[in-house]
Amino acid sequence: MNPFGRFDDSKREYVITRPDTPLPWLNYLGQDEFFGLCTNTAGGYTFWKDAKLRRLTRYRYNNVPYDLGGRYIYINDGGSVWNPGWKPIKAKLDAYECRHGLGYTRIIGQKDGLEVEMLFFVPPGENLELWKVTVRNKSKVAKQPKIFTFQEFCLFDAANDMNNLQRTYSIGEVEVDGSAIYHKTEYRERRDHYTLFACTRPVDGFDTSRDAFVGIHEGLHDPKVPFAGQCTNSKAFGWNPIGAHQINLNLAPGQEETFSFVLAYVEQGKEPKYDSLYVMNKKVGKTIVDKYSKPGAVDTAFTKLGTVWTDLLSNFQASSPDPHANRMLNVWNQYQCMATFNMSRSASMYETGIGRGMGYRDSNQDLLGFMHMIPSRARERILDIAATQLSDGTCYHQYQPLTKKGNAEIGGDFYDDHLWLILSTCQYIKETGDVGILQAPCSYADQPDAKTDLLHHLEVSIAYTMKKRGPHGLPLIGHADWNDCLNLNCFSTEPNESFQCAGDVKDSKAESVMIAGLFLYASREMAALYDFMGNAADAFRMRKGYDEMLNVIETHAWDGEWYRRAYDAAGTPVGSKENPEGKIFIESQGWCVLGGAGQNNGRAKQAMESVHKHLFTKNGAVLQQPPYSTYHVELGEVTSYPPGVKENAGIFCHNNTWINLGWCLLGDGDRALEYYLSICPSAKEDQIETYRSEPYVYAQMIAGKDAVCFGEAKNSWLTGTAAWTFVSVAEGILGIKADYKGLSINPCIPKAWKGFTASRKFRGVEYQIEVKNPSGICKGVKKVTVDGKTVTGNVIPFEAGKKVVKVAITLEA
Ligand code: GLC
Ligand code: GLC
Repeated sequence: MNPFGRFDDSKREYVITRPDTPLPWLNYLGQDEFFGLCTNTAGGYTFWKDAKLRRLTRYRYNNVPYDLGGRYIYINDGGSVWNPGWKPIKAKLDAYECRHGLGYTRIIGQKDGLEVEMLFFVPPGENLELWKVTVRNKSKVAKQPKIFTFQEFCLFDAANDMNNLQRTYSIGEVEVDGSAIYHKTEYRERRDHYTLFACTRPVDGFDTSRDAFVGIHEGLHDPKVPFAGQCTNSKAFGWNPIGAHQINLNLAPGQEETFSFVLAYVEQGKEPKYDSLYVMNKKVGKTIVDKYSKPGAVDTAFTKLGTVWTDLLSNFQASSPDPHANRMLNVWNQYQCMATFNMSRSASMYETGIGRGMGYRDSNQDLLGFMHMIPSRARERILDIAATQLSDGTCYHQYQPLTKKGNAEIGGDFYDDHLWLILSTCQYIKETGDVGILQAPCSYADQPDAKTDLLHHLEVSIAYTMKKRGPHGLPLIGHADWNDCLNLNCFSTEPNESFQCAGDVKDSKAESVMIAGLFLYASREMAALYDFMGNAADAFRMRKGYDEMLNVIETHAWDGEWYRRAYDAAGTPVGSKENPEGKIFIESQGWCVLGGAGQNNGRAKQAMESVHKHLFTKNGAVLQQPPYSTYHVELGEVTSYPPGVKENAGIFCHNNTWINLGWCLLGDGDRALEYYLSICPSAKEDQIETYRSEPYVYAQMIAGKDAVCFGEAKNSWLTGTAAWTFVSVAEGILGIKADYKGLSINPCIPKAWKGFTASRKFRGVEYQIEVKNPSGICKGVKKVTVDGKTVTGNVIPFEAGKKVVKVAITLEA
């Protein structure tokens, strides 16, 4: 099995038993506005709301080793210096264990009879991180260990912090007050906030200058102060401010001591900034330290975190015959959906937090896996995203979470972006019944005073795709569609420009079949929404648009055995048997099938079988085949990657989920589960040396069969795979789906499953569902009883006021 760790399902933890994992294995702290990244060796950083503009602690990217810098604790035990999380000193530990749980990480290291336990978490609703430290003398002799904390402050703007050293080396400022270190760079001028790093007990020393604590020529593996055994009480003046505390302990055999540290982001609010010249008003910070210095306060906060997660997860729980599906769906997949909801693609081991903000299409898709947990936050997010749309229907491709403003550098004109808003909005209304969101005021990025509402945005989105079409009547692609690397208008020969921004899309003719498929899906959603609203005329108009696009697809996009992917700017098909490479792509099969194409002519089935024949592997389905071996100026970035990697025939897990859903639509539950397990990280534990990434969260990409490292996962955590896998298992395989009038249940399971049970909270009612499959089929709801009474159809009508509803379902051919 996995030599590096194991799932502890009953505790909802992943236990890492060796620090030298094949890659740093990450966890996230925080679920509201304050976040930390924390690896299994305590590496990572902390920020408030926005990883670029409010970075509190510093991190260096692409480091050697990979993960360096974080929440470090150095132990000096009679001259022997080590870290309980192994790094950065990497002294050999007698015992090590890291438990990544929901919103917390607990690391225990032991050496020479001294055990140090560190628990890191962010209390729900608070803008701070707690480090609870317990030191236990497990030896037979008295010990006088010295404990040193260490982390580097980031000067808030993480980009500036990295590249503008001529300024940043001169502005660093701190104040120290007892056990509390206040990082207040730029507070004298425009900032009304600071970072606080404090201990809940008196300390025996501190340092705030990195040069004093670490040294100039030393590194984090041989820092001066921990080896010398004494802090210097340095006060940073420019250069690199840090926070370090010293605590001297005296522990009899068997004795232990516990104390905590608070790392907080503090907004001054209405408080005056200064007590006197150069002396900041520390009132708000002091309140925080007082709160967590009270006995039991840290433990109470930790218990609350557990309750918050138990409540969140209780919205969806299932028990199926598949252990991987169970633990991922019930715990880790939903947990990952919280991270993608909060982070989009901004801050991970692979995203620096300074490059990307919140993606428009990404965030709309992330919502699909989050909606059932906290619909009120989903509502707010939908309106924020919509407000970054432009009045013509196009969108800012990304926006900055702090300012909620579109990012001009990456721009817009990705002609799929706007359609995803329809998916998230309709899903939200189905989940909540809150059709009123459609009338919520929502202007456009280029017309901030427009008196428009959310429904207007959905209509503008449909209209844009209907209007912006190419020679075959298919939607134009712009800079790219979902596949950011299919750049059919960029024609770039200049290595210094971005594939996504280069090229003129204004008079472009390149068309996307995937957008056409997505349009089918979106316009059908709109029609159903109008039906629900009792608006027959608009529903009819939507269905007309649908039929028109369907006709275009069936006339111009079918290649004989699968759907083509696109037409390039010269009108040449992409993803066709006519192409020497890139003959078949996955996305257009997924979206044409999900949009309802090929239903009556056998093409849907044939397209899916072609995916199986040409793209599927034991590690998932690759994005296209054969990979491009040379760069094609007319196709863009997709041909820039080495064969088998990323969009050039890598296994891009995100789009595998659409194929899963396609199998469910066609009623093949065996294939659906087989595809699901092929990319499921929990099912990769017995090949972890190849897979390398965390076994508890989905990765964006697994190297494809054409890569030398077939099966190696990359870019874990922040990927649309999280939300879509939740959808494909919860709504596809288990078939439990929110709908306008009630909860729809239509499972598509493997024949060998005798059934499953699930509990789903929906608009405040808990549905306890039992599905039986006596005759071993995949799909076919025959008999439904609700609280013992037979109902027809498979939508359980919503009845407000009930607490628990028992649903029994039998599948029969
Ligand atoms: C990345 C992007 C996403 C895009 C995908 C495929 O995950 O964040 O927007 O759809 O790559 O290119
Ligand atoms: C690159 C990546 C792709 C990502 C895009 C946008 O093209 O391959 O996955 O979506 O950059 O940042």
